[in-house]
Amino acid sequence: MQELDLKISGGTVANSADTFRADIGIRDGRIVAIGKSLGEARRTIDASGKLVLPGGIEAHCHIEQESSGGIMTSDDYWSGSVSAAFGGNTCFVPFAAQHRGNRLKDVLETYHGRASSKSVIDYSFHLIVSDPTQDVLQNELPRAIEQGITSFKIYMTYDRLIVDDAQMLEIFSVAKRHGALTMIHAENNAMIKWMSGKLVDGGHVAPRYHALSHPRVAEAEAINRAIALASFLDAPILIVHVSTEAGARLIAKARYAGHKVFGETCPQYMFLHAEQMDLPDMHGAKFCCSPPLRDRASRDEIWRCLQNGTFQVYSSDHAPYRYDSTGKLHAGPTPDFPKIANGLPGIELRLPLLFSEGYRKGRISLNHFVQLAAGNVSRIYGLEHRKGSITEGKDADIAIWDPEQRRVVRAADLHDNMEFTPYEGMEIEGWPVTVIRRGEVIVENNELKAGRGSGEFIARRKIDTTGMPGTLAPELDPDRNFGVDLGL
Ligand code: URP
Ligand code: ZN
Ligand code: ZN
Repeated sequence: MQELDLKISGGTVANSADTFRADIGIRDGRIVAIGKSLGEARRTIDASGKLVLPGGIEAHCHIEQESSGGIMTSDDYWSGSVSAAFGGNTCFVPFAAQHRGNRLKDVLETYHGRASSKSVIDYSFHLIVSDPTQDVLQNELPRAIEQGITSFKIYMTYDRLIVDDAQMLEIFSVAKRHGALTMIHAENNAMIKWMSGKLVDGGHVAPRYHALSHPRVAEAEAINRAIALASFLDAPILIVHVSTEAGARLIAKARYAGHKVFGETCPQYMFLHAEQMDLPDMHGAKFCCSPPLRDRASRDEIWRCLQNGTFQVYSSDHAPYRYDSTGKLHAGPTPDFPKIANGLPGIELRLPLLFSEGYRKGRISLNHFVQLAAGNVSRIYGLEHRKGSITEGKDADIAIWDPEQRRVVRAADLHDNMEFTPYEGMEIEGWPVTVIRRGEVIVENNELKAGRGSGEFIARRKIDTTGMPGTLAPELDPDRNFGVDLGL
């Protein structure tokens, strides 16, 4: 038998559906053997007492991305990927953002350039589509899908990004026809603008008013509309960063009714709460994100919806803006809340938080943790042929977790380019101690071992809706609409 490059021995292995004791043999970046007595290896890692899990896949993060207001995130593909790696991730899918007037070809070229020279973990991109011209719809999006960019994000709010209902239908129909998934930032723009205007006019400009300006019903209305538009065409969608139980219930109901709808939530809606926006001076700005943090009761509801499977995806929505003039305070030292840069960091803590508070505290099983860390995302976003499980033939992307290791979160210990973390002081039990990407140890003994730019672009597969429920609206079904073919 040919010598292995690496063997991981003595650990407990867990995938999305099963947990077993086995050694893992790795050669040429792939998992080539799982079992006992795997033979000689150039290097053996002793994982006794540890959990051997698929490397995490972070599916929602903003890295080296200009916001629509022109502010650059503080993390580039170096610091962002290093931070992700220390948090147990071996792959991520940040956004490549189209701003109005941009050609998708140029956007993708820019982001490929940013990632390829810096990322230490593997990567793909979701395309943010803010300008769905005929050329974008007919040529550029289908071409991007052929290149392995098989998901888009659209916004139902933010004046510079918003797409209207008609544009949503156009984007959904392209996604459906060509095998892509549309991710949706679902908040009602008019409600947010109306509330923001009233609050600012009344002099209520402190960070805490950010939450009031994004009412819960604004999220529910937009989710409801997005589901109606997508299910009309039977197109698959994923509602990102859901913050309310009302929103989660709409997703659950749509899934129950047989629509192709997925849901995502994020650690901020499970571990933080709206009172944190009320810190003295402008420190509340550190907790401003959209949708906003809700009250403590909402956190329990979001946890419940994670436990019961309403959310298939759990992502950080890492949107790092420092507490200075480059980020949160870009509009001055005491900006009105609508001018505070929106977003929270969390790429390194996403998995440790869930491991500790979810798995270790008995809220979710170890296999459910793996589903949320990597398994579900690999399936939903077309990465399953390479990633998301410890299986022979797949990339050797593995995080070895010490379930007993305790740490207190300190911003200074994290590897992103931020000077604060909203999770400061939290106690975490369980940490990824060794991280392996395509067979190469990239984090070990608290040290980075990977070379800059050693991550690779992964072309994702088209979204496979086989076996998903769903029905075309009768008005679109040639069997029921007098034979009119609408080309879907
Ligand atoms: O506040 C947030 N989430 N900022 C990042 C941008 C987005 O909409 O995901
Ligand atoms: Zn968003
Ligand atoms: Zn986001």
